[in-house]
Amino acid sequence: MSKQTFYLTTPIYYVNDVPHIGHSYTTIAADVLARYKRMKNYDVFFLTGTDEHGQKIQKAAQAYNKTPLEFVDTVVDKFKNLWEALEISHDGFIRTTDEDHCRRVRNIFQRIFENGDIYLGEYEGWYCIPCESFWIESQLHETKCPECKRAVEKVKEKNYFFRLSKYRNALLEYYEKHPHFIQPESRRNEILHRIQSHIEDISISRSAVEWGIQVPMDPTHTIYVWIDALMNYVTALGYDDDMQKFEKYWPANVHIIGKEILWFHGAIWPAILMSLNIDLPCKVYAHGWWTIEGKKISKSLGNAIDPHSIIQLYGTDAYRYFLLREVPFGLDGNFSYNALIHRINSDLGNDLGNLLQRTLTMIDKYFQGIIPEVPDEEDELRGLSRDTHMKMDSEMDKLQFSRALEIVWEFIGRANKFVEDKKPWSLAKSDTTRPQLAAALGTLAAAIRDISFYVYPFMPKTAAEIQRQLGIREEGQQLCLEFQQGFKKGTVVKKGKPLFPRVELSAMNVAETVA
Ligand code: MSP
Repeated sequence: MSKQTFYLTTPIYYVNDVPHIGHSYTTIAADVLARYKRMKNYDVFFLTGTDEHGQKIQKAAQAYNKTPLEFVDTVVDKFKNLWEALEISHDGFIRTTDEDHCRRVRNIFQRIFENGDIYLGEYEGWYCIPCESFWIESQLHETKCPECKRAVEKVKEKNYFFRLSKYRNALLEYYEKHPHFIQPESRRNEILHRIQSHIEDISISRSAVEWGIQVPMDPTHTIYVWIDALMNYVTALGYDDDMQKFEKYWPANVHIIGKEILWFHGAIWPAILMSLNIDLPCKVYAHGWWTIEGKKISKSLGNAIDPHSIIQLYGTDAYRYFLLREVPFGLDGNFSYNALIHRINSDLGNDLGNLLQRTLTMIDKYFQGIIPEVPDEEDELRGLSRDTHMKMDSEMDKLQFSRALEIVWEFIGRANKFVEDKKPWSLAKSDTTRPQLAAALGTLAAAIRDISFYVYPFMPKTAAEIQRQLGIREEGQQLCLEFQQGFKKGTVVKKGKPLFPRVELSAMNVAETVA
């Protein structure tokens, strides 16, 4: 039987700048979901990539005295390198300068035009280059862009328009019939109200911007960068000239995005798909924004910490864990080194690291490293682990990553309490309690193996190391991702270094924090 498919995407990132925590957040969240779904035996296609056209990139290239293509080629590698350092397991990486993408975008544009949903009109209003967004006068915020509060420029030009207003009722009907299409709920309501109150056709070409895909029926215009970008979700699957992947994976199960681009994904993209008569994605999930030490991450404030520097100091897994554990997915969050260090020392070091360390120490000490066999009967931890698994599944399906981790950490807490309650060191004092000692340590080893599965999507390296120390995976071998009962007879543990040694706030962090 063929596997069920799961197609998930991140936004494609602008390459005018190097990637920061915010970009890494979305990509890590998507990676966690992709790994989790693969573990559940789905045939996953996880897409990310870069958005390389538009005025903003054109300007950035000029500032560096490079052609746009030379410029984007250098920045794109910075994204790819970061994804590698963060263990991102994407299946596809699309660049909007890819020839296949450009050709397909032109075809799609032509098709929408032939459907009668594109017409030539005149645009008069304001344009925000950093957001690549059009605004009308009444939307401005004290003459500034309502989204990023930066200066906007006046635009008056002939543009091609997309008949977004035609889809008003169809969109409202769709949201009504699919109440979980836009998540979280509060954001869905924002979009709903915006459409109910006012919806206009949108400009989808620029005559003043050279760096873009030409409008097929008018070479004096380039396609508005947002339209070019949104189409990546289908062009990456071959739509519309190599349909095999598209037929297999579309509709996307979820587009994961930041909250500031929900209008594009929750309203404009669905309307385009309706015009093309293509199914809509199952879900658009808009997460919140990170600030750094309470401040918006911005180039001008110079506070965009390079994720590489955090990874170098604290490791990839601690960083991945922190971002998804600290803030409920959907809400805004604040990055601080103090909070990160607290999570490392407390959740990762004290709770998880110690559980492994103390269990293996006792197996070494009382059983020469051999995991004792456990009688095949229900024990407290086995039942709790099953509950943990079920609850975790339900939270992961809702993309509630922090809740899923809380549930796993409750289980880790129960396993630590199990040690305190059973007091193996007391059981070891007498031969008559040896069977209880064996049962306690065997039970703990099994619980830790289950924990390696639970933490795997979030911390793949840690999961692998736990399995190595438990003696169920050789160095360099693939991780075991299938739940099992019992250990192979005679499995020998290989206690190693602590998973998460205690860390302190380094001078480097303090300097950055103060700056
Ligand atoms: N190129 C468009 C997206 C096109 S998708 C068809 C774009 N690019 S971006 O480089 O600006 O990236 C925006 C995305 O990066 C956000 O939607 C979010 O996923 C992530 N983040 C950027 N800054 C962020 C924070 N400060 N906090 C959390 N995530 C943010 O928009």
